[in-house]
Amino acid sequence: MKAIALTSFGIPEVLKELELPIPSLTDTQVLIEMRASSINPADYLFRNGAILQSPMAHKFPDQLQLPLVLGNEVAGIVQEVGRKVTHFKPGDRVMGMIQRGSYMDYVAAEEDHLAVIPENVSFDEAGAAPTVTLTAWQALFEHGHLQPEQRILIHAGAGGVGHVAVQLAKQHGAYVIATARNYNHDFVRALGADEVIDYTKVDFTTQITTPVDIVLDTAKDPSTFGTGLPGEMGEKNFSVIKEGGTYISIVAFGISQYPKVRNIHAHFFQAQPKRTDFEFIADHMKNNKLKIHINETFAFTAQGLLQAYRKSEEGPKRGKVVITKTIK
Ligand SMILES: NC(=O)c1ccc[n+]([C@@H]2O[C@H](COP(=O)([O-])OP(=O)(O)OC[C@H]3O[C@@H](n4cnc5c(N)ncnc54)[C@H](OP(=O)(O)O)[C@@H]3O)[C@@H](O)[C@H]2O)c1
Repeated sequence: MKAIALTSFGIPEVLKELELPIPSLTDTQVLIEMRASSINPADYLFRNGAILQSPMAHKFPDQLQLPLVLGNEVAGIVQEVGRKVTHFKPGDRVMGMIQRGSYMDYVAAEEDHLAVIPENVSFDEAGAAPTVTLTAWQALFEHGHLQPEQRILIHAGAGGVGHVAVQLAKQHGAYVIATARNYNHDFVRALGADEVIDYTKVDFTTQITTPVDIVLDTAKDPSTFGTGLPGEMGEKNFSVIKEGGTYISIVAFGISQYPKVRNIHAHFFQAQPKRTDFEFIADHMKNNKLKIHINETFAFTAQGLLQAYRKSEEGPKRGKVVITKTIK
C-alpha cells in the first residue's frame, strides 16, 4: 500500500512516497481504508525535527524512528475489524484519531478512538475534525466546566482548535471573546464570537474591561516550546481572569508549575481520544451545530503533502488543511 513518510527530518521536501505492508490488527482495532486526513501543528514539529529538542520528546520514543509516517487523524471506510470489536463493521464510514501514521492507504485504529461519520458529513470534513473537535470539547467541558452565560476568552479563534471552540462555547450560551488577526475577523464573528480582538494590532488586555471566567489559550506560540511556560502571554492571561477563574492552555505544558495567582486554576492538558466524546461531536456535526472549516484540500501524494504542509505552516489560514483521496 501507499504511504507518505519522512525519510529524514527537515523541510516538506523530505516527505516521500513509500510502499509499506498493510498494518495487521490487534483484537481491539479496526482497519480503515483512509479517505481523508489532515495536518496539525504537532505534525510539523515532528517533520522539521523540532520535537527532538523538546522536553516532551521522551514521550514519543517509538515515534521518532525513520521512515516515519505522520498524521494522527483519519476518516475512511472500515475494511476489517479485530476479534473483540463490537461497535463497527466492514463498510461503516468512520472518523477518529490514531497515535501517528495516517498518511497511508490503510490505517489501524483502536475501536475506542473512533465514531461513525454522520451521513451529511463528507470524508474531507471528517478527516479534519478529530483532533481539533476533541481538544476543544475536552477543554471547554471536561477541563473548563464552561457554564451558560460565562465569559470566555478564546485565543486564536480562527485556528483549527479555536474555530471549533468558538462555535461550541457559543452554542453552550457563553459570551465569547476571541483573538484573531484582522483577516479572520468576519470569519470568527460568523462562528458566533461576540467580540473579536486583533492580537497583531492591540494588546488584548486593554480591550477586556470586564474580567472573564475562563481563558482558553490555543495560540501557537513557539516561545513556549522549550520550557512549556507561557511567558508574557501567560501574565496577560492571568490579568484578565477573575478571581477563582480558570486558565486552560493546550500549548503551555508547564503552566501548572506557576504559583497560584488569585485562586485561578491554571491547567494544561493533552487531548485524549474517547469514543463517547467523538459521538457527542458527531452528533453536533449531524445536527449542523458544528461545522469544520476546510481552508484548502490537497491530494494524497508526496507533492500534495508538501504543498499542504507549506500552506499549514506559512498561512494565512483559517480552520484546517486537509489531505484527501477525492482529488488525485
Ligand atoms: N494539548 C493538546 O492536546 C493540543 C491539541 C491540539 C493542538 N494543540 C496545540 O495547540 C496549538 C493550536 O493548534 P491548532 O490546530 O488550532 O493550530 P492552527 O490551526 O495552526 O491555529 C493556530 C492559530 O494561532 C494563531 N495565533 C498565533 N499567535 C497568536 C497570538 N499571539 N494570539 C492569538 N492567536 C495567535 C494563528 O492565528 P493567525 O493565523 O491569525 O496568525 C492561528 O490561527 C498548536 O500549538 C498545537 O500544537 C495542542
